[in-house]
Amino acid sequence: MINIPSGKGTKLRMFVFLSVLISIFFYSTTKAQVIPIETDSSAMVLFVTKNKEVRLRYFGQKLNDVKEYEQFTGQLHQASDPSGVADAVYSSAGSRNFFEPAISVIHADGNTSLALRYVSSDVKRISADIEETQLLLKDPVYDFNVKLVFRAYRKDNVVEQWSEITQNENGAVRLNKFASANLYWYGSSFWLKQYHGDWAREMQPEVTKLSHGIKTLDTKLGTRADLFQPPVFIISADHKPMEDQGEVMLGSIEWSGNYRVDLEVDNRNNLRIIAGMNNASSSYELQPGKTFRTPRFLYTLSQQGTGQASRNLQSWARKYRILDGEGGRLTLLNNWESTYFDFNEEKLKNLLGDTKKLGVDLFLLDDGWFANKYPRNDDHAGLGDWQPNRKKLPNGIQAVVKDADKKGVKFGIWIEPEMVNPKSELYEKHPDWVIKQPDRPEYYFRNQLVLDLSNPKVQDFVFGIVDSLFIKNPSLAYIKWDCNSVIYNAYSAHLNHQSELYIAYVRGLYKVLERIRAKYPQVPMMLCSGGGGRVDYAALKYFTEFWPSDNTDPLERVFMQWEYSYFYPAISMAAHVTNWGRQPIKYKVDVAMMGKLGFDIPVSKLKPEELSFCQQAVQQYNKVKDVIWHGDQYRLISPWNHDFASLMYVDRKKDKAVIFSYLVSNRYDAGSELPVKFKGLNPDQRYKIEEVNLYNGAKSSINDKKDNTYSGSFLMKAGFNPVVNSRRASVVLVATAVN
Ligand code: GLA
Repeated sequence: MINIPSGKGTKLRMFVFLSVLISIFFYSTTKAQVIPIETDSSAMVLFVTKNKEVRLRYFGQKLNDVKEYEQFTGQLHQASDPSGVADAVYSSAGSRNFFEPAISVIHADGNTSLALRYVSSDVKRISADIEETQLLLKDPVYDFNVKLVFRAYRKDNVVEQWSEITQNENGAVRLNKFASANLYWYGSSFWLKQYHGDWAREMQPEVTKLSHGIKTLDTKLGTRADLFQPPVFIISADHKPMEDQGEVMLGSIEWSGNYRVDLEVDNRNNLRIIAGMNNASSSYELQPGKTFRTPRFLYTLSQQGTGQASRNLQSWARKYRILDGEGGRLTLLNNWESTYFDFNEEKLKNLLGDTKKLGVDLFLLDDGWFANKYPRNDDHAGLGDWQPNRKKLPNGIQAVVKDADKKGVKFGIWIEPEMVNPKSELYEKHPDWVIKQPDRPEYYFRNQLVLDLSNPKVQDFVFGIVDSLFIKNPSLAYIKWDCNSVIYNAYSAHLNHQSELYIAYVRGLYKVLERIRAKYPQVPMMLCSGGGGRVDYAALKYFTEFWPSDNTDPLERVFMQWEYSYFYPAISMAAHVTNWGRQPIKYKVDVAMMGKLGFDIPVSKLKPEELSFCQQAVQQYNKVKDVIWHGDQYRLISPWNHDFASLMYVDRKKDKAVIFSYLVSNRYDAGSELPVKFKGLNPDQRYKIEEVNLYNGAKSSINDKKDNTYSGSFLMKAGFNPVVNSRRASVVLVATAVN
């Protein structure tokens, strides 16, 4: 019992003391009830109920006053939720929830129920821009907890979310589902823009209204996981996604393997988004005392349409995710399409000369340089045997690298280290390193199988391929890392629990990439997967760029790169000029210039005027590449519903812009009848407009004008006509601030 001393003054002091105590208590409990996860413009707000359940009660534009989030619930007049947990921050299976769960488990004692209650929350400031909220939830019956982590990048309005699942029961717990995130979005109607594809047909968009029930986006391909469906999507509220208006979310899973996104419109019309690794054939046995960490789910929410949302994501990616995202890149000449597997030292030396002639930074030697017992002369043999082929390269790679050094160009090389042809010495020596069912016939994708990266010995082998290339060739300046096969007949001779292979594979891959980056932190690497079969923000932590598609037909690339650009910045998108497509060389170069420029053409076969155009274009690219790589991108005219496409990049100071326009229609008189309204300029600044990349002495009416300067206000409100038509099928303009 508390002994309260008597006396008037003492009583008053006690009264004041108790009042302060009570108000502190109420203040802190009210504070603990609301957990806002805010960026500069958006907010996800969690509420802790009296019985310690955590609900996601607000998802939208950030409010000026944090206290007002609580009032939002009072404004909802939707039907009641009989489960009471439809908007749970991380819905669990087996208790009251009857919607798609984020987590589903079988406890050590065989029980399948899980309920998660609030234990604590904590906010950490990682940097001036990044804030991390951690929320600990626990089952009141079982010693099982989930930590949800929300990392908010304030300026770019990006949030990464993941979960860490830990158990201390009397035995292993089986995780049947383990999502990274479980969002709840109040609204009356939602649209989904998703992507599908195949080899040479990557990033095909499809827009649909989400109907009630579940729409699942997923992949089960294992390695070249995104071949049919990349892990990126757009959701808009109330109407189809628009470029400059409306509330939209751009989302993705940061995981290079099987992923799954469930979009569930519930009985009250609200949208549940449950995203993470795919649990298909992947249940996971979690041992006591161990933690299972999911990959990150990434999203940005914008109230100014997909344009702003994609600039958020591009800026975030350059700053925080893509390797050397704010640095430079190397332009290059690749030999894949000019030689395929048919080359020797002499041919390569000539190509090094062509690299120099063209004026690009680097020569990239593609597939076909390795294997002796089963030489790599086509894609049926040799993969896995990473010794230079003695017939093609009698003096090894070193001789070519030496010649590159002599000619003053950099040298890069293609590898596909995760895979093996059955016709190889590697397969003969280590059949147990290969993913295949012991008692079933082998089945191949591009005549090859996948190595078992869950096995640390295989991880060492893969790391060794890269390491020995660098040890033998210290001036090696670039790696193209390919991955052509999917996983069939998933079985690992190394693992005890076969259902963990898909996850263990990707974790093994990341271990190798971590080791490579620890030893070679800066060397640029291209992420390739038989085209764009593996593009995601977990892999891009280790890579400087990706290969969007083997389809380099520039007309197709206008559409494909347009779609990729919603999620990835130009600096990460390798775009090569090749013999695909029937367009003139100018069109091809102009299209490749809106990404990271490269060439894959037989330079020696170019007509003199084509060569000199390419040389000048490389020089021109060097002048504007900073704007393209590091500037803000604005999509102006969509190729999907116009005769031409227009897009532009503006540097951060708004001093320089590059505007690309491409004709995409063959119809009579197709072209830019009206001016194109620019975006992102300073309205009060005057800009000089100049057409560049003119084909060998071609005249431009734009450059012939006496006064070529316009205010930013004019260019954005009235617009500027790039004069695109069948005679001028691609036009590149540079706007430079003048006094
Ligand atoms: C894949 C890549 C190509 C090329 C070939 C080589 O298809 O996407 O760019 O490297 O492999 O075999």
